[in-house]
Formats: sequence, C-alpha cells, structure tokens
Amino acid sequence: MRAIRVSWTESALPGSGTSLPGGGTVTTEWLPIAQVRGDYAAAPSAYPAHYLAPAELPVLTRIAAPKRQVEWLAGRVAAKRLVCLVLERAGLTVRPGELAVLGNKPGSRAGKPELSWRTTALAGSVGRHAADISLAHTLRFAVCALAHSGRVGVDVEPLRGFSPALRRTVFTEHEVALAGTAFPAFDTRHRSAALWVVKEALLKAYGIGFAHGWGTARLRAADATAAVFDIALPAEADPGHRVSVRYGRVTDHIFAIASVASRPQDGHQQKGQLRAWD
Ligand SMILES: CC(C)(COP(=O)(O)OP(=O)(O)OC[C@H]1O[C@@H](n2cnc3c(N)ncnc32)[C@H](O)[C@@H]1OP(=O)(O)O)[C@@H](O)C(=O)NCCC(=O)NCCS
Repeated sequence: MRAIRVSWTESALPGSGTSLPGGGTVTTEWLPIAQVRGDYAAAPSAYPAHYLAPAELPVLTRIAAPKRQVEWLAGRVAAKRLVCLVLERAGLTVRPGELAVLGNKPGSRAGKPELSWRTTALAGSVGRHAADISLAHTLRFAVCALAHSGRVGVDVEPLRGFSPALRRTVFTEHEVALAGTAFPAFDTRHRSAALWVVKEALLKAYGIGFAHGWGTARLRAADATAAVFDIALPAEADPGHRVSVRYGRVTDHIFAIASVASRPQDGHQQKGQLRAWD
C-alpha cells in the first residue's frame, strides 16, 4: 500500500481548461446518453463511421448488449468531441476517426482508455495538448475528462444515499466516520457517494480500478481540504508528485475528477499514449 496525499475541493464541473488545486489542468465533456442513442438509431452505420477509428468499429460490433453498446459509443463520442475541440483551439484540425480511444487491456475488462492517432506526425504534434483521458458513464450521461499533462481519472454517479449494508460492504467503519465530516458541502446522506466517486476517480487516474476489491483504496485521514489514501499501487507505478481531486454536484449526479501530476522535470507521459497506427 502507498500512502497518497490528496488535496481536494468541492466545485462546479470544470468546463474548458480548469486548474486543479495542487497542479494539473483538466477539461471535460458531459454528453447526454439519450442524444447518442437517438443519433445512433437514426444512422446506425453513418454515425459510428463518422466518430470511430478503424480499430474501434469491430469493438463496437462485438458488444452484444445494446445498452452497453450505446454507453461505450457515447464515451468515444464525448472523448472525440473534446479532444478535437481542444486541438482545434490549438490550431490543429483533426477528424474524430483519426483518433482511437481503446482500453489498455485486451478482453472484456478493457482497462484505462488510451489515445492513439492515425499517423506518427499527428501523434507527435498533439501530445502536448492531450496527455491522458478518462471516461465514465451512467444511465443518463457519458463524461470524458482530458488532462493536458499528467494523468486523469473521472467518475460520475447518480447522487443517492448508500444503504447501511452497502456502506459496510465497500467502506470500513473508519472511512464512514471520516466521510461523515470530510465533505461539508454535501448533505450527510450523500457523503458516502462523495467518497465513492473520489475513490473511483483516483483509481482510474492510476489505471487500476478496484483491481484488488474494495480495499484497493482506503481513506486513512481527511479534512475539508486534504486527505490521505492508502492505495494498492503496483510496485512499478509512479505515485505522482501532486495528486488533487475536484468533486461536486451536477444536476442529480455527483462527479469527481482526480489529477496526478508528476514532477515537471520527469516530463511524464502516460506509457503508450502517443501511439500511431502507421
Ligand atoms: C474501472 C472501474 C472503476 C469502472 O467503474 P464502473 O462503475 O464499472 O464504470 P464507469 O462508468 O465509472 O467507468 C467506465 C470506464 O472506466 C474506464 N476504465 C475501465 N478500467 C479502467 C482502469 N483500470 N483504469 C482507468 N479507467 C478504466 C473505461 O474507459 C470504462 O469505459 P469504457 O468501457 O466505455 O471504455 C471498475 O470497473 C473497476 O474497478 N474495474 C477493475 C477491476 C474489477 O472489475 N474488479 C471487480 C470489482 S472488485
């Protein structure tokens, strides 16, 4: 277990290029799933052909459940709209199909999404604008967070109370007590949801998810501005120099965005980020 110190703050969902406390700049795209479902149903070939790269199309067709298919597609559409917009603002015109967003693990547990590009030249020129992305979806929304440097993780969930049984399953008593005081902006019945999204965002930024069950990340200490998590990071993983989290409420959902910044002199880039197909 590594002890990871996190600065955190409650805030609005960042739009374009919001700095996180302690380092990192993150941009987000927030997309209604119903919009993607409607557009996909109206043009079942043309819609994915517009957004997806050649390597992504067979992944979409292999997904059997229509609900999961739409969620997966919505994540890609959110990611591509965001990346293309950020690049356009930087003077680079890129079509969505020139960029692929695929998990870094084979099989059904796809792992952390990574960006790859049609050509080496493209991969080279976009690297400094789009270092890492993260995706999350609920029944209503797909969200993509883009980090301009370092690593990012995003989670979004419907804002709900956790039953006592669910709290006991996923948190320790110590965590429940800490969550009860560490998220003052939330109603007490929603503080478990706040801890949940913060953990998921952190574990996505590190690319591990709940790989070792609910104990993969445990909250050790917390106040309203900072926390310490014990996280089961792989031995070779970079814990980061500064870790920060922004969390808050959007409509009837709760989100968290985690940013893991390495020391500037490390020039850290997520492994495999700047892959090209050619
Ligand atoms: C990663 C994880 C936290 C995702 O949570 P979720 O509530 O299922 O789904 P969300 O909507 O929040 O996020 C889904 C996105 O997370 C991303 N993701 C998946 N694995 C990831 C990982 N290891 N690191 C970072 N991001 C990951 C994917 O982009 C996925 O979207 P996509 O499939 O459309 O590409 C969760 O699936 C997990 O912990 N998986 C790893 C191990 C596991 O499954 N353990 C069993 C539970 S004990």
